[in-house]
Amino acid sequence: MATAETTASKPAESEPLAADLLAWYDEHARTMPWRIGPAHTKAGHRPDPYHIWLCEVMAQQTQLGTVVDYFEKFTARWPDFNSLAAAGTDEVLAAWAGLGYYSRARNLKRCAQIVACEHDGRLPHDVDALRALPGIGEYTAAAIAAIAFDAPVAVVDGNVERVIARLHAIDEPLPGARARIRSYVTDMLDPVRPGDFAQAMMDLGATVCRPKAPMCLICPIRADCAGFARGDPETFPIKAAKKPKPTRRGAAFVAVNARGEVFLRRRPEKGMLGGMMEPPTSDWSARADGETGIAAAPFDAAWRAAGEVRHTFTHFHLELSVHAGRVSGDGAGDGRWVARANLPAAGLPTLMKKVVEAALPGTFPDQAKASK
Ligand code: ADE
Repeated sequence: MATAETTASKPAESEPLAADLLAWYDEHARTMPWRIGPAHTKAGHRPDPYHIWLCEVMAQQTQLGTVVDYFEKFTARWPDFNSLAAAGTDEVLAAWAGLGYYSRARNLKRCAQIVACEHDGRLPHDVDALRALPGIGEYTAAAIAAIAFDAPVAVVDGNVERVIARLHAIDEPLPGARARIRSYVTDMLDPVRPGDFAQAMMDLGATVCRPKAPMCLICPIRADCAGFARGDPETFPIKAAKKPKPTRRGAAFVAVNARGEVFLRRRPEKGMLGGMMEPPTSDWSARADGETGIAAAPFDAAWRAAGEVRHTFTHFHLELSVHAGRVSGDGAGDGRWVARANLPAAGLPTLMKKVVEAALPGTFPDQAKASK
């Protein structure tokens, strides 16, 4: 009797929990422009790895609903690694504007160049090779390997952490519980359809096992869920006490010349909003008594106070006092004068749009709506 041989040649099977989850995904997978649908993936087809990479890098920044808009814009303009590699960095940064963290857009472009030049325009399949590329961390490498190439690896984002913390009623707060959560996902992932399994977990977390008011009655894995059994799934994941965000302050200067143009300069490559255009700003200081006032103006003008702008970054709040001024000459220093009508296409980050909008209301109609 060749028991060992029979076992070895037996095709992998789904665990019941993964099977329940996948059956739910087959019915309820969200339609996304980078997905080809469970019917196709079950038939062995794979989505375009360029699409998966692009959406995963964008999803590091924002919700999937917003990713869809940017994804459509990027793929219409740059349909593959080679075209993105050939794009100008400024064009890519301008298209990224609004997604935040411009170092990610730089990495996106650098990654496309490496894939185009060193990998023949095709992403490597292996998690370690993916991780070696700019802008691809542990999560993104796992997501691409699983979704684009069906590698059986654990893909753990915030949604998945929540699903697992509830499923096992994990009483340790994040981030301490991360290693345990990862090992639970590794144990339960589906060896036959790892890409669909990864996306099913994320979809379940986003649509059913939501942070607030989870919809347990329609959950495909509630029979196994310890949080549901206890009657308090929302308690999980246990939250660690949050550190309050500090507030930094600074000043921004919107200079307008006789032709009605606005002075913009490029921020230093390193640091927040690295390499993006801005109306000149002072340092953003944690101290209220730093160079946050008119003394930090880039050149002389009859500056008038044009209000305050608040913006929240991941680790701090920022308050900028906005000053507006007319200058008679062309000022001084590195930068360029941009016609007001061209400002919407100048690739200003959201914070800087708010600054210009405070000084020159109506320049960005969308911004005016958003800040109301
Ligand atoms: N979040 C990030 N990437 C995702 C994906 N591919 N599917 C569902 N949610 C996601």
